[in-house]
Amino acid sequence: MTAHGPAMSPDEFKRNGEAVLNWIADYRADEDGHRPVQSNIDPGSIYEALPASPPLHPEPFESVMQDVDRVLRPGLTHWQSPDWFAYFPSNGAEPSVLADLLSSGMGVQGMLWATSPACTELEMRMLDWTVEALGLPEHFRFDAPGPGGGVLQDTASSAVLACMVAAREDATDGQSNIDGLAQSTGPLIAYVSTQSHSSVEKAARVCGIGSANLRLIEVDDSFAMNPDALAATLEADRAAGCRPFFICVTLGTTGTGAFDPLDVIGELAEQYECWLHVDAAMFGTAALCPEHRWMHEGVERADSWSFNPHKWMGATFDCSCLWLRDATALTNAMSINPAYLDNPATAGGEVIDYRDWHVQLGRRFRALKLWFLYRCVGLERLQSMIRHHVQLTQELVSWIDDDPDWHRVAPTPMTLACLQHRAGDQVTSAVLNSLNESGSMALTHCELDGRYTIRLSIGQWNTTISHVRAAWDRIVSAGTEFTSSS
Ligand SMILES: Cc1ncc(COP(=O)(O)O)c(C=O)c1O
Repeated sequence: MTAHGPAMSPDEFKRNGEAVLNWIADYRADEDGHRPVQSNIDPGSIYEALPASPPLHPEPFESVMQDVDRVLRPGLTHWQSPDWFAYFPSNGAEPSVLADLLSSGMGVQGMLWATSPACTELEMRMLDWTVEALGLPEHFRFDAPGPGGGVLQDTASSAVLACMVAAREDATDGQSNIDGLAQSTGPLIAYVSTQSHSSVEKAARVCGIGSANLRLIEVDDSFAMNPDALAATLEADRAAGCRPFFICVTLGTTGTGAFDPLDVIGELAEQYECWLHVDAAMFGTAALCPEHRWMHEGVERADSWSFNPHKWMGATFDCSCLWLRDATALTNAMSINPAYLDNPATAGGEVIDYRDWHVQLGRRFRALKLWFLYRCVGLERLQSMIRHHVQLTQELVSWIDDDPDWHRVAPTPMTLACLQHRAGDQVTSAVLNSLNESGSMALTHCELDGRYTIRLSIGQWNTTISHVRAAWDRIVSAGTEFTSSS
């Protein structure tokens, strides 16, 4: 027995663990308890409700759990609610929740193959499985000949940063890591559309490219990148002595769910020797169903491909897949070998050390979440969830299009509908604010062509037609209320 004793005895651990699991199961089943869907507490109230100092002596586990309900629960926004239509979903299916718990219980740290071979090798196999599940090219698999493979990142933001660093090193023959971004070959320029996610601009800032060297390419009527505008900008930059080095294609933009034309942009990337990164964070999951694999046209030219199983697919946050057609540039850019990480397996060169595939050194056993999800749910039920959500969205689209007061702004290729009230921005924003304040559902907005636009994103695991119908009825009646009062 140590002087400090166990944090919990095995019996206490089992008893308390059961209480936690019961809490989680009850929370997830409690649809009525998910109101208000978005927490509406005053800023600072949770902070103030918590003691200013940590306890000196242990407290009963029951009182900790009571405070989860009493203090924290009012400040929870219920992402698992079937009335969740905000941002994008963050589905966390039960098998994945349990896998997360197991990962914490094992307490494994998988920075090197040697620090837990199962962590690395399950991850490699899960990335291979996911290539097959999505119908992506074989060259992303570890068991295919060639230098490709995949890795779990925490988020799509980290994935694009890692790839931009790899592309930067590729474009400067590995010199920027050593000498800094000496711009002797002319400034490095990256390209995205005006509708791309802000994480790409953040990556450009963080890795020293700078926002000034990120070109925001205009979009067409469907809010997808205009490849002619991209071609003209690439040409002008090259003529001006700049070095185009990175293009990010978004398959499913955050604002409207638009799909940039990957095949045409891929040709430009090849012509201008740019790294081609694909950000399919949300809608990449749809490719679980063969009928949605049209989005892969041109995939063979992608240097890197990322999507988030933690959005729509059912893996708990965080879990973001990234594949590289050739991982060498990434591992060259990220590899650094202090003596304290030396080990025979790394020296032998036959293992994957995932610390070389991203910025951070330490890493969790995230692959368990995918393994449990695949094994306990199976591909068929994942496909039927996707088809169900697409079907729900098509129903919603038909209601919007039949309504005289509401206008659907962008195409709805997948599960995100964008709408504006014909009476103008004031009514559209009043509807969104009143519904969010009512606690009955959660919505977010974006700005399209300078107009305030409601985004209604469908994709929570338990959302049914009655939730979508109720959401639409609430929108219509709030719209009527605000137009008659204005
Ligand atoms: C298209 C797209 N890319 C990237 C991201 C960033 O995702 P993450 O939170 O995993 O960094 C999002 C988030 O919604 C997104 O919609």
